[in-house]
Amino acid sequence: MVELVFASANEGKIKEIYQLLGSPFVIKGLKDVHITEEIPETGNTFYENAFLKANYVFEKTKKDVFADDSGLCIDALNGDPGIHSAYYAGWPKNDPKNIELVLKKLDHSQNRSAHFISVISLIWKGKNYFFEGKVYGKIANSPAGNNGFGYDPIFIPDGYDQTFAELPLEIKNKLSHRYLAIQKMKEFLISKIYEV
Ligand code: IMP
Repeated sequence: MVELVFASANEGKIKEIYQLLGSPFVIKGLKDVHITEEIPETGNTFYENAFLKANYVFEKTKKDVFADDSGLCIDALNGDPGIHSAYYAGWPKNDPKNIELVLKKLDHSQNRSAHFISVISLIWKGKNYFFEGKVYGKIANSPAGNNGFGYDPIFIPDGYDQTFAELPLEIKNKLSHRYLAIQKMKEFLISKIYEV
């Protein structure tokens, strides 16, 4: 059994990641290690923010820990919403408003290329490792579909003609930036655990 802290208070995300990692991993959330305060995310990149979260928990607990930071980057908007994905249209977080703003900003743009990115910072035996997952696609002209969350209704992954919110969750979960980053971390951990 390998215990890892996942620096998230989101029960849904903790469960999803536990399912992706599977045995022999046991995942603890922030609540399990008695961290209830908001962890500052003051970095300028996905890498900085993922590391800030993981390192905050590591400094407090000295346990093996990982954190992720993800978002949508649109070429014609110079990579925006980027690290501001969650609060692009302001506070509090509002997915439909974020989507509306993206579509408004892209109105006259022919270039609809975009990608989702997920960066994981893993502090394993006191040393930091990064893992990155990306999924490329394009921004639809209008929202479609009810699955998923965030920008899923306007993101059409390459090779498909439906949005992430229209595609069955099993398909999204095998293509997604988060899935790809988690798979890389899992391969790394398995190689370390069985290393002699
Ligand atoms: P987080 O870092 O995973 O919390 O993601 C930050 C924000 O990026 C979310 O609030 C969403 O707006 C957006 N985002 C990240 N991953 C996805 C996804 O898989 N689908 C849609 N939106 C996403």
